Amino acid sequence: MCSWEFTCSDVQRRGPGYDSPVLRDLVLGIANSKAIRSAVTGGLGRKVALRFVAGETLDDAITAVAALNADGFDVSLDHLGENISDVAQADSATQMYLAAIDRIEGGNLRANVSVKLTQLGLDLDEGLATAGAHAIVARAASVGTSVTLDMEDHRYTDRTIDACIALSRRFPHAIGVAVQTYLHRTPEDLERLIEARVHVRLCKGAYKEPRTIAFRSRVEVDAAYARLATRLIESPAYAMIATHDEALIDHAIAEIERTKRDPATHEFQMLYGVRRELQRSLLARGYRLRVYVPFGSQWYPYLMRRIAERPANMRFFAEALARG
Ligand code: FDA
Repeated sequence: MCSWEFTCSDVQRRGPGYDSPVLRDLVLGIANSKAIRSAVTGGLGRKVALRFVAGETLDDAITAVAALNADGFDVSLDHLGENISDVAQADSATQMYLAAIDRIEGGNLRANVSVKLTQLGLDLDEGLATAGAHAIVARAASVGTSVTLDMEDHRYTDRTIDACIALSRRFPHAIGVAVQTYLHRTPEDLERLIEARVHVRLCKGAYKEPRTIAFRSRVEVDAAYARLATRLIESPAYAMIATHDEALIDHAIAEIERTKRDPATHEFQMLYGVRRELQRSLLARGYRLRVYVPFGSQWYPYLMRRIAERPANMRFFAEALARG
């Protein structure tokens, strides 16, 4: 039976339009509509979303982390939420991350956290967001774990990279950041991050970006990924290869072997609920695999990005809604 874990062949096959940035932009565009948002979040959409997220509470998330750890996976916990609109929400996000780190330590779990600066208030007050990030990284460092700053759309790229580098001066080894291979600027950003010796998560990029600053075609984004993966793996930075693309995973493995990289200095990362067979097979081959586990009630933008990545997800979504 075909499950949400995308194990059946017709789901894993690239459907028509898979390569289409137009379709992706369309989904990301209509996701901003208030009507669509309330239709999706108001009812059955929640049931579908929970196949991509561990649950709405920290308890749900910790249960998922423990189960994944028991199966051999490491985890990065993401408390869902972004572009918040008041200071209280920013404070509450920071507190949730501090609580999550306490639970990671208390449960002796193999997990770190992934944080979006807009969730900590970057749109309201940069000082508030950096203070929140500072508190979270300090707590993570004190218990021997780490923080990765998720990369949001291009309006935040400079500030996210600057914040990461500033935090690394105070907390070396406890901070990293995602970079997106679809952005033309990323080769230069990667050099800065390598120089600063922060952890680097390489991903393709999930936002709707103008063609003046980002590659549009799958071929270009993948070629950029391969080039940047080679550079990252040759560098001394801790490398986080975040993709479900088997060709790029094979490329990264070949580069890891060619450079004889110490296994303690890199890991693969994939999203909760996506390509679990591939996750298991990498683990079985002896690679560290970290599953990115989102949790919380603000799952709508996250769900829309996952749907935009893959038209087959749209079909699942529509079918689940139709089934009720
Ligand atoms: P690609 O989209 O080409 O997918 C390769 C194959 O994987 C597909 O053929 C399909 O089988 C499967 N697949 C991929 N996505 C799927 C999905 N949603 N549902 C079902 N199957 C799917 N982006 C960003 O902008 N900022 C960030 O901080 C992060 N952080 C991040 C962390 C981690 C751990 C991961 C894995 C990804 C991110 N991303 C991200 C998202 C990333 O930029 C990208 O949008 C997705 O990973 C999809 O790209 P792939 O590299 O998997 O390739």
